[in-house]
Amino acid sequence: MTIDDIQARKKRGEKISMLTCYDYAMAKILSRAGVDMLLVGDSLGMVVLGYPSTREVTMEDMLRHTGAVARGAAGTFVVADLPHGSYDSPGPAVANARRLIQSGAQMVKVERGREIRDVVLALVQAGIPLMGHLGLTPQTAGTFRVQGREPEVAAAIREDALLLQNLGVQSIVLESMPRSLAAEITSSLRIPTIGIGAGPDTDGQVLVLYDMLGLFDDFRPKFVKPFANLSTGIETAARKYRKEVTAGVFPEDQHSFN
Ligand code: KIV
Repeated sequence: MTIDDIQARKKRGEKISMLTCYDYAMAKILSRAGVDMLLVGDSLGMVVLGYPSTREVTMEDMLRHTGAVARGAAGTFVVADLPHGSYDSPGPAVANARRLIQSGAQMVKVERGREIRDVVLALVQAGIPLMGHLGLTPQTAGTFRVQGREPEVAAAIREDALLLQNLGVQSIVLESMPRSLAAEITSSLRIPTIGIGAGPDTDGQVLVLYDMLGLFDDFRPKFVKPFANLSTGIETAARKYRKEVTAGVFPEDQHSFN
């Protein structure tokens, strides 16, 4: 999968699947499953590191997890988030994006539109393949609610999407917005849109892996469909392990060196 392949999928009307991913073992499984793109999202701060928001995530966190995913991803397209505070001005933005690419990302994602115009321009001019992120942008959002119900907010999101495309951004995540707005933006752009809580008409879909696997239960947004309930399976396995260890049943001779 290359950037050109992803863009060609839009032209052919073929949907793109993306999931967040934070580690080597999961990257191997998701690659084997044929998921088109893996996003090393800064959601890792909440679902893996236990922070209250994505804002606590550092460049060092992103570099470590991007490297782990890239080592497991074998041929799968990897996108990595520039974390909060790492792209406040063009110079640091370009330097930090280069570090993510060196760690194995093929593309870097940034949140918001007009507010980061100069940064986006610098990243594109530096040759960094770039994904935008509009609608609900968790790095700066006050509350996690649907964006773009009011006509003036919808108009601003539409304008930002066009601005990002014109600046040279190659794909855009649309998060938490009415499906009609996401559909309208998707049909007005040449570049693919990837939706999360934006309805079925975007060019692709992304979910947070831990939500999709039923592993994260602190809260569940309406747009999440749990495709598995792994937390119950893991808890059952851990209980069984604990019982066998305390009863002296595990390890058996077959698990021992003689
Ligand atoms: O960090 C993340 O997981 C994201 C997705 C919600 C798109 O940015």
